[in-house]
Amino acid sequence: QPIRLEDYTPPAWLVESVHLDVALAPSRTRVRATMRVLPNPDAAAGTPLTLDGERMTLLLVSVDGAKLDAGAYDLTDSSLVLPHLTEGTHEIVIETECDPQANTSLTGLYQSNGVYCTQCEAEGFRRITYFPDRPDVLAVYTVRLEGDAAACPVLLANGNCVESGTLEGGRHFAVWHDPHPKPSYLFAMVAGDLAHVSDSFTTRSGREVALGIYVEHGKEDRTAYAMDALKRSMKWDEDAFGREYDLDVFNIVAVSDFNMGAMENKGLNVFNDKYILVRPDTATDVDFANVEAIIAHEYFHNWSGNRVTCRDWFQLCLKEGLTVFRDQEFTSDMRSRPVKRIADVKTLRAHQFPEDAGPLAHPVRPTSYIEINNFYTATVYEKGAEVVRMLKAIVGEDAFCAGMDIYFSRNDGRAATVEDFLDAMAEASGRDLSQFKRWYDQAGTPDLVVSGRYSPLDETYELTVAQSTAPTPGQSQKAPLHIPLTMGLIGTDGEDLGLYLAGETSEDGATERTLELTQHEQVFTFEKVPSPPVLSLLRGFSAPVKLTTNGGEKDWLFRMAHDSDPCARWEAGQTYARELLVAVTRAIAAGEKPRRGTRYADALRNVLTDDSLEPAFAAMMLDLPGEAELAQHIGQDVDADAVHAARSHLHKAVADQLGDLLLDRYAQLQSNAAYSPDADQAGRRALKNACLRVYAGLGNENAARLAATQFASANNMTDTEAALATLTHMARDERQAAFDSFYERASGDPLLLDKWFSLQAMSSREDTLARAMELAKHKDFSLTRPNTVRALVGVFAGANPVRFHAADGSGYRFLTAFVRELDPINPQVAARLLGTLKTWRVYDAPRRDAARQAVSDLLSAGKLSEDTYEIATRMIA
Ligand code: ARG
Ligand code: ZN
Repeated sequence: QPIRLEDYTPPAWLVESVHLDVALAPSRTRVRATMRVLPNPDAAAGTPLTLDGERMTLLLVSVDGAKLDAGAYDLTDSSLVLPHLTEGTHEIVIETECDPQANTSLTGLYQSNGVYCTQCEAEGFRRITYFPDRPDVLAVYTVRLEGDAAACPVLLANGNCVESGTLEGGRHFAVWHDPHPKPSYLFAMVAGDLAHVSDSFTTRSGREVALGIYVEHGKEDRTAYAMDALKRSMKWDEDAFGREYDLDVFNIVAVSDFNMGAMENKGLNVFNDKYILVRPDTATDVDFANVEAIIAHEYFHNWSGNRVTCRDWFQLCLKEGLTVFRDQEFTSDMRSRPVKRIADVKTLRAHQFPEDAGPLAHPVRPTSYIEINNFYTATVYEKGAEVVRMLKAIVGEDAFCAGMDIYFSRNDGRAATVEDFLDAMAEASGRDLSQFKRWYDQAGTPDLVVSGRYSPLDETYELTVAQSTAPTPGQSQKAPLHIPLTMGLIGTDGEDLGLYLAGETSEDGATERTLELTQHEQVFTFEKVPSPPVLSLLRGFSAPVKLTTNGGEKDWLFRMAHDSDPCARWEAGQTYARELLVAVTRAIAAGEKPRRGTRYADALRNVLTDDSLEPAFAAMMLDLPGEAELAQHIGQDVDADAVHAARSHLHKAVADQLGDLLLDRYAQLQSNAAYSPDADQAGRRALKNACLRVYAGLGNENAARLAATQFASANNMTDTEAALATLTHMARDERQAAFDSFYERASGDPLLLDKWFSLQAMSSREDTLARAMELAKHKDFSLTRPNTVRALVGVFAGANPVRFHAADGSGYRFLTAFVRELDPINPQVAARLLGTLKTWRVYDAPRRDAARQAVSDLLSAGKLSEDTYEIATRMIA
């Protein structure tokens, strides 16, 4: 019974205030909710009060002080209806009991390592008390938490602590009040025996904010980077968006069992501890960067999400796409803008494009769902951010800033829609955004086919651009989109040419322009072009599209060396490598001798010797497109073994040709400087480890020795992990020794053990599936810990194409058997894991048959959660 966007109706009842009295106990936590309710003046009158609620024991209901008998209300598995309550303002009291200890779904109130915590987004609050659990009901919350003083010295909830004290029987309490009306999904409470570190931040208008990060005892020395990132985020949102923090307290709690990355609860963010706890010897440069980005993301939600929230869950991208855009901008300002942009393009291409091309495709604003948690996707988040970025490119920086101000001020304290956002932007820019809006409604990645023609006689260059989007589930017809296409023309000397668009009066001859595509096909003519230019398209990756041009090897080589736009320059190398890999795959399948990519290797040689390049950028240039991306690019009847063989072949050919240069660069980039997670140092390590990785393509004794030496001598986790990531594919003794020693070091540290699991799960060795099955029975593995599940099964299915997409279907069956076991324990994580199968249709017939069979078997094996059921049925629909 799907929920549909078109069925939205405003809430019949509003809640003015809620007072929660929570008596914590591991298996019998009591919640007494006192709320003032009143009919919504903007909704149809006379509707009985209906509250959402599930998986609780109802103990008492009273209205205006009078207890109701069971006959006076209707109770179902998912709701509580008071049929006689149809008008007037009332005080409702509801008492319930729930069992946090037994709650392995990690939604609602649960315990993680003995710490009580909550996750209410999207619909977890209804497991804490009966309530109109929808984002457009905003209320003021006061929470009184009571617990055992020894087990729970720390008692936290949203807002400010207004009272606390001790009670009889070794218990104590704290009262928290949040003055900002909020939807129930932003509610949070935490209780437990936690250590904390404090700091403070003074906002630009002089508000002194007490900052706290709560972690397990003994982990305090892993919080410094997160705290620093938090203060930088607070400052940046003031400078870049004029957004200031609005409470006297901002607390963060790190818990080890968490379904997602983190949660932006008002004034009390709860994090997966993987995204808080970093220290040079336990976390990689990538881990540090993730902490910085996620701290920023959750903090930025305070405005894009909390102050301005969503009317309904179909509008999820309104807060998520916008907040991802904001955190991307933050990272760009903190680190290298081009490197961040390329990293985001890689993520988009690795996760969102396949989603958009497969059975789980959906618009940035979906129109129906069974389980909303299945829509916290790359499309809503990452493509949602791309849509905001395109909007900025179309209306321009100034109008975009003005539009953001209008959006925030006009919708402050409201539950808004995508339309409200677009209205603000349209008003600020004076632009008609009605066609642009299709980006929110139409699924699928558009294909752009571009061809350029130079005519020497009149010195013009004619660009023909055609756009189309393939059908996606439920959307067979696609309308043209409003697409910003940023481009340049490069002259023979490698310099950008001035652009003079025919028919335009103001001719400033800028070297870069954003063309606006609105039709199926359009022609742009550039004048005053003295000689045949090289076309540089999609600069800064100005739109989330797939691009085909009539350029070839010569153009790619030229642009790998000369394109002034780093993103387009990197993309030239990727396009070249992709085409080479496709050719090699075909040659191998046909039993022909595959190409060695000599000119490609030469271009990489230039990258390696060009000191003017940022090391992090050079590292990205060295990266071959992955096997999953290639499979996607080939698009049908893919043989995962052939793709793997082709990539290994090219990898080895490049390593052969660059051998000594790679070793030289590797040696040059070694450093004895004290570790710092900053972008410069991280970039040099990235390039050094890229040299190691490429060199390891040789697969010989030297490569193994190099990696083993790095493993033995590394003084930071980045180098340790890079060494293991190289060794893991090898069939050599060095591998076993390194993994054994790493395991010993990881003992008792779940975050390190997760690395140990995932580094094995990603191995391309033939015995990896067998090893993964063994590891799923390992004493350090547990179905109740999402991080560990993702480290082993998530990495195997999501990052090891050749073994997961084994022709005999063994990888698929491993996944579905695992999902079946996990589903009753944690449906959200089970459904998400199953989602890794979404690319199955691009593979060849034996694989397709096996995948379809594995999913149908899962569906017929017994009752599934709604989460997993929805994914499984869409997967093979
Ligand atoms: N709003 C959170 C974020 O983007 C994600 C939490 C979603 N959790 C869930 N179970 N659906 O940071
Ligand atoms: Zn978010």
